[in-house]
Amino acid sequence: MKICVFGAGYVGLVTAACLAEMGNSVACLDVDGQRIAALQRGEVPIHEPGLDGLIHRNAAADRLLFTTDAAAAVAHGTVIFIAVGTPAGEDGAADVDAVLAAASTIGRHMRDYKVVVDKSTVPVGTADTVRHLIAQELARRDVALPYAVVSNPEFLKEGAAIDDFMRPDRVILGCENEQAGLLLRALYAPFLRNRDRMLMMDVRSAELTKYAANAMLAARISFMNELAALAERLGADIEAVRRGIGADSRIGTHFLYAGCGWGGSCLPKDVKALARMGAEAGVQLAILDAVQAVNQRQRRLLVDRVVARFGDDLRGHLFALWGLAFKPGTDDLREAPSLIVVQELVERGARVRAFDPAAMPRAQHLWGTLPEIALVGDPLTAVEGASALLVVTEWREFRSPDFVSMRARMRSPVIFDGRNLYEPEMLAGMGFEYVGVGRAAPMAPASAAVIHPPGAQAPTDPMERKILQSEAVA
Ligand SMILES: NC(=O)c1ccc[n+]([C@@H]2O[C@H](COP(=O)([O-])OP(=O)(O)OC[C@H]3O[C@@H](n4cnc5c(N)ncnc54)[C@H](O)[C@@H]3O)[C@@H](O)[C@H]2O)c1
Repeated sequence: MKICVFGAGYVGLVTAACLAEMGNSVACLDVDGQRIAALQRGEVPIHEPGLDGLIHRNAAADRLLFTTDAAAAVAHGTVIFIAVGTPAGEDGAADVDAVLAAASTIGRHMRDYKVVVDKSTVPVGTADTVRHLIAQELARRDVALPYAVVSNPEFLKEGAAIDDFMRPDRVILGCENEQAGLLLRALYAPFLRNRDRMLMMDVRSAELTKYAANAMLAARISFMNELAALAERLGADIEAVRRGIGADSRIGTHFLYAGCGWGGSCLPKDVKALARMGAEAGVQLAILDAVQAVNQRQRRLLVDRVVARFGDDLRGHLFALWGLAFKPGTDDLREAPSLIVVQELVERGARVRAFDPAAMPRAQHLWGTLPEIALVGDPLTAVEGASALLVVTEWREFRSPDFVSMRARMRSPVIFDGRNLYEPEMLAGMGFEYVGVGRAAPMAPASAAVIHPPGAQAPTDPMERKILQSEAVA
């Protein structure tokens, strides 16, 4: 099938590359000339596992091309995906200007039947506006051409985007036109071979489904973060609680991790936009206000903990940050909790040394010229001379670090673990002052760490370890 994709960002590139991989002929269009020039040279502007290979292979096979030529791209595609950005506007509502510009462009250049597929996350009713704008452009040219506008929100996760697109949990299609529905069923059939997971519905329900999904995910995390605060007060461990409720098949295990807040290119703006949609429709979505308020507090949690431990004046302190991207597997820094942490530490006079496995080029772009922030090439260098380590993103390579080397390098062995990667008792036993999120397990200060004589086996039973530690503290 002949496809055009508007937008060469995270969603547009993945959509274009995956559709080309199935044998379709895809023209990917962007208004950013530099981005397109880089893609034409074979440079992929984002970090997404597996994407480079797909792009190179399909470009070499002439199934995937990149262009800024809107007329040619629109002429190429019978199915035209709109996958441009919809950032939060001033008032929290989604800014759909790029989507509307794409719609007008399509109307201006189309010469035959088109199925216009809205993949961008857009407020309910946007498909109607897209339809209207295309009609307006056609009327201006005084031509009558058939076309359909459908909603096909995207649910891929950055960091696992290729897999999500190739093997989707579901494909939502908001479509009220039979011919367009058949075309899209055929286009998606190769991705749904083992089980039909296409859910057909009306356009407005499809548009709302995307916001509902992201708001639900954000609500789960914020709920766990509120409970984490309570667990700390009550002497419970949120990790045990998480396992306890996640084992309930009605609840499930995903998006239950307490931590230093959610961010990224989607959840913050989508929750905001949904709340705004509610307000505009006269329906106050009170739960979303709470979900956002909890997250604002949570994103400051690490800084609050640093201040509680080291004071408000952080001059003379160096802090190591592990992880800058808003989640593992991506280089995306949009609304990442790390941005707040870095800014607040620096404002208090601290120096920051940070490492991230993928986001260093983007971080360099943001902070490269600031003397207070050093971006280093590995996690151990980051902790050298640090007053504390702050774990901000749960990259796999941070899960089992060399604690002995870390301790030897740090000025004080303090770890603020914003993602609950480590076991409090184990770290206390190794002489670290360890603070997780919602974890009330006993924290032995460094001076009270249990030292086992050479040759003696450390007890493996957690209860026995606990008793030994409390004896050491007493
Ligand atoms: N990133 C994700 O994980 C994700 C997941 C699901 C849905 N979404 C949604 O998908 C949409 C795109 O998100 P993204 O992260 O890919 O955005 P992005 O910012 O990475 O990319 C958007 C691209 O669109 C281009 N663009 C803007 N106006 C254009 C126009 N008129 N014609 C052609 N190109 C144009 C921009 O130059 C940019 O390269 C958003 O609505 C987002 O909410 C994103």
